Amino acid sequence: MGIRYVEGKKIFHMDTEHTTYLIGLSPEGYVGHIYYGRKLGSEGNNYLLRMEEAPYTPSVREREKASFMDFFPMECPAGGIGDYRESCLDVRGGSGSIGCELLFKEYRITKGKPVLPGLPASFGTEDEAETLELVCEDRLLGIEVILAYSVFWKCDMITRNIRVDNRGEEHLKLEKVYSACLDMDNRDFEMVTLVGSWARERHIQRGALRFGRQMVSSVKGESSHQEHPFLALVTPETTQETGEVYAMNFVYSGNFMAQAELTQFRQVRMTMGIHPDHFCWNLRPGESFQAPEAVLTYSAEGLGLMTRNFHDFYREHLIRSPYKYRKRPVLINNWEATYFDFDSEKLLAIAREAKKAGIEMLVMDDGWFGKRNLDDCSLGDWTVNEEKITSGLPDLVEKVNEIGLQFGIWFEPEMISPDSDLYRAHPDWAIRIAGRTPSQSRAQYVLDLSRKEVVDYAYGCVADILHSAPIAYVKWDMNRQLCDIGSACLDRESQGELMHRYVLGVYEMQERLVTEFPELLLENCSGGGARFDPGMLYYSPQIWCSDDVDAMERLRIQEGTALIYPLSTMGAHVGDCPNHIVGRNTPFDTRAHVAMAGTFGYELDITKIAEEERAKIPAQVEEYHRYQPLMQRGDYYRLASWSDRKPYDCWEVAAKDSSEALVTFVQVLAEPNMHSRAVFLRGLQEDAEYALEGTEEVYGGDELMRCGYLVPSEPGDFVSRLYHFVRVGQV
Ligand code: GLA
Repeated sequence: MGIRYVEGKKIFHMDTEHTTYLIGLSPEGYVGHIYYGRKLGSEGNNYLLRMEEAPYTPSVREREKASFMDFFPMECPAGGIGDYRESCLDVRGGSGSIGCELLFKEYRITKGKPVLPGLPASFGTEDEAETLELVCEDRLLGIEVILAYSVFWKCDMITRNIRVDNRGEEHLKLEKVYSACLDMDNRDFEMVTLVGSWARERHIQRGALRFGRQMVSSVKGESSHQEHPFLALVTPETTQETGEVYAMNFVYSGNFMAQAELTQFRQVRMTMGIHPDHFCWNLRPGESFQAPEAVLTYSAEGLGLMTRNFHDFYREHLIRSPYKYRKRPVLINNWEATYFDFDSEKLLAIAREAKKAGIEMLVMDDGWFGKRNLDDCSLGDWTVNEEKITSGLPDLVEKVNEIGLQFGIWFEPEMISPDSDLYRAHPDWAIRIAGRTPSQSRAQYVLDLSRKEVVDYAYGCVADILHSAPIAYVKWDMNRQLCDIGSACLDRESQGELMHRYVLGVYEMQERLVTEFPELLLENCSGGGARFDPGMLYYSPQIWCSDDVDAMERLRIQEGTALIYPLSTMGAHVGDCPNHIVGRNTPFDTRAHVAMAGTFGYELDITKIAEEERAKIPAQVEEYHRYQPLMQRGDYYRLASWSDRKPYDCWEVAAKDSSEALVTFVQVLAEPNMHSRAVFLRGLQEDAEYALEGTEEVYGGDELMRCGYLVPSEPGDFVSRLYHFVRVGQV
């Protein structure tokens, strides 16, 4: 299918439907990157390795080896032997020095996509994917490094990962292991990243690539609110529809580094992997280290195609949940309705009103366990607080079910409050440095998930509660970042493994959860959207996007999130007004239209909102379900962007067979003395006719795409409209 070795040229040629990736070997066996981009009809040659130009390859002139190493485009640059650009692999040998030289040994091409033990990773059948493994070795260190590439033909995706096997006699230390590297000539690239903070996660940032190293990263123990494990390099003319895009995303939820480096010779090196800070992994004889997966895509048709490649890939090859394409229940969550101040009666009152409005699930958020009436205690004590849940959890769930709603529950299983029975019994279960008072954040510590007994305990608490009642949904939260990185159980040599072992512990717990409760709907969350990444999507089909549910703030947050992740993954709710974070008032309809771009729900006290708003909910629920199959499977197009200095925001989801399209238009600020605005639809059939639902209007597909649809002008800030176009016949 997609991968072949061209023996005579020593070139590995990998194709997807629209892209080609070429790897070449130097005479010595250095594994070089030749090309990644638009599909080549030809076999390809290796002249882009520039082996005929000085500095020549070391086998020709050994004394120029350092110059060669610092220029040759490497597939996996190892540190310490003359390549001064960012390295991907730093190995401290038995002598204590860092230096590694990887030379090609052999290759394997197999059908399908291997699993990565203990790690989230994409999957594909033998018909969908093919895998190349390049086995490299450093004989002095006694290691083999396996560079794995899987090609997903239809989605134009290539995944990469690296495994290091210690086949020698020495105890080695891995001080850095990245998962992917892409070396190429600069083309005046600009860098696109996602940045933000709590309540304003994943805003799109674009800027020039300058000489030196520019990165986004996290050392917080999670992918973070602030920076995101995603990096794209784009040519300057790149828009939604045009221009070239090289993008990488990391299937990992802990510390990461995503970097672009512009070098002295105007080469670009793009790298991605686990952040080397606080990382040092022991590799004893016979042991292996598996680095997580990075996902690469190339688009010759702008950011829009990049987005759709990611969406298709994650839907088809990463998200495993049975809910992926299933109807998701419309839920109401009591967090912003009550915060910690609730009891069974309040919850049942919300459930009764919610049922009348057509809502399908009640989620009981933080505050139901231990003696938690504030965020300062009880994490770890996962027993129901019967002062609040007066007749016990099974009874509450039964009553909610009798009302006609499913029941969901909130957990924060990775944490421990200093004021908890768990901490009093096991103070050493918290991550901390011996002898130093650890820093609290939200009055809590983080559990040391590198320890099996801690993982077993924390998982056991969740499982026991789920076994006690028919609970359909879990919101799995993680409300602080890691610091004071120390484990009471790891020896001096192994403390540098803790950050990664922590993430492996989280993955183990979530794997156990989805295996033991396969019908459970799991929504991940981290103080809003601090762990919205492909790693978590492997376990949960939806992730809470942000604690900020203000409809205008959500435009930016959801635009940035949807740059990579399918709409069906974005937890999005209709919130209260004035909004609890920004104090803004927005129309109830607009809040619903914006939330319908994600997995829809409500985050307010339905017993207290205005009657006229409550009256709108049944139609909103019905509308969401009507459009949900289209939103779950369709192609997403960004038509106009408020964050791009437009006074309005507009996006479209078109069915893959072009039979229908839903356009959401949000006028953020009204413009005086303004006519209607043209938005240019995408993804329609050119020679078909489309009716605009609810009107007599019929348009040609080509007309809507080339001439545009005129959104009527109307007064008012924060107002929105949905436009549903349905194919009614051929022109
Ligand atoms: C985090 C979540 C919120 C809520 C609170 C509860 O901030 O993002 O939705 O669950 O925790 O403490």
